[in-house]
Amino acid sequence: MTHATKIPSMLPDSIQAYMTELAAKWTGQGSVVECGAWLGATTAALCDGLVSAGYDRKIHVYDRWEANGAECGKAGRQGVPIEDGQNTLGVLMELLGDHARMVSPHRGRIERAQWSAVEPIELFVLDACKYEAVFMPTIMTFAKAWIPGVTTVAFMDHHFYQRYDVGSAEHDRYSIHARWLEAHAESFSVVRDFAPDEPMILRYVKPIDWGVTV
Ligand SMILES: C[S@@+](CC[C@H](N)C(=O)[O-])C[C@H]1O[C@@H](n2cnc3c(N)ncnc32)[C@H](O)[C@@H]1O
Repeated sequence: MTHATKIPSMLPDSIQAYMTELAAKWTGQGSVVECGAWLGATTAALCDGLVSAGYDRKIHVYDRWEANGAECGKAGRQGVPIEDGQNTLGVLMELLGDHARMVSPHRGRIERAQWSAVEPIELFVLDACKYEAVFMPTIMTFAKAWIPGVTTVAFMDHHFYQRYDVGSAEHDRYSIHARWLEAHAESFSVVRDFAPDEPMILRYVKPIDWGVTV
């Protein structure tokens, strides 16, 4: 089993297909990192593209892989029963089939993840950006390995906050990444904006000024 369409997904097939296209553009200048993988639908889509690009290293995948009630419902409705509290890393690895060998899984809180100071990142996918307590430490950890002019950054939750009224607590809470992007606008250009769907795909063009805070 090697295709993303067979894996329960929280994203439309069209977005997963785009992630395959994006990964297929890998140029060999850095690794691929995915934060927030769930059962591996995006991971598989990325692997499909990376195989065609000749990717010769591991894709580093971060998640807590601990199912909650909402995830059980979504997975069950897509034909993969999981239980509340289950460690789903094994499910992801099984669903990935042949692609599992490309994956280096890191189980735990994304905001406590670590990244090598010397391994550049060419494609960074974040599907867990809604909360400041997760987003900021994650960015601090991984953005230092982004390559100016090269790295593609995918914020898969980007437009979620826009479902809420401006000024509401939810709008404020879920827009941390958008406010951070605004504060560092000179460091990014838009590759593709899927509005009103969630993903925003960016090119990291210029080093971040870490002195600027949100
Ligand atoms: C929206 S899902 C990913 C969906 C996936 N891209 C797909 O296509 O189906 C987000 C994932 O991020 C994980 N996650 C969210 N916040 C996290 C955190 N702080 N630490 C670790 N994992 C987290 C959840 O466990 C979940 O598996």
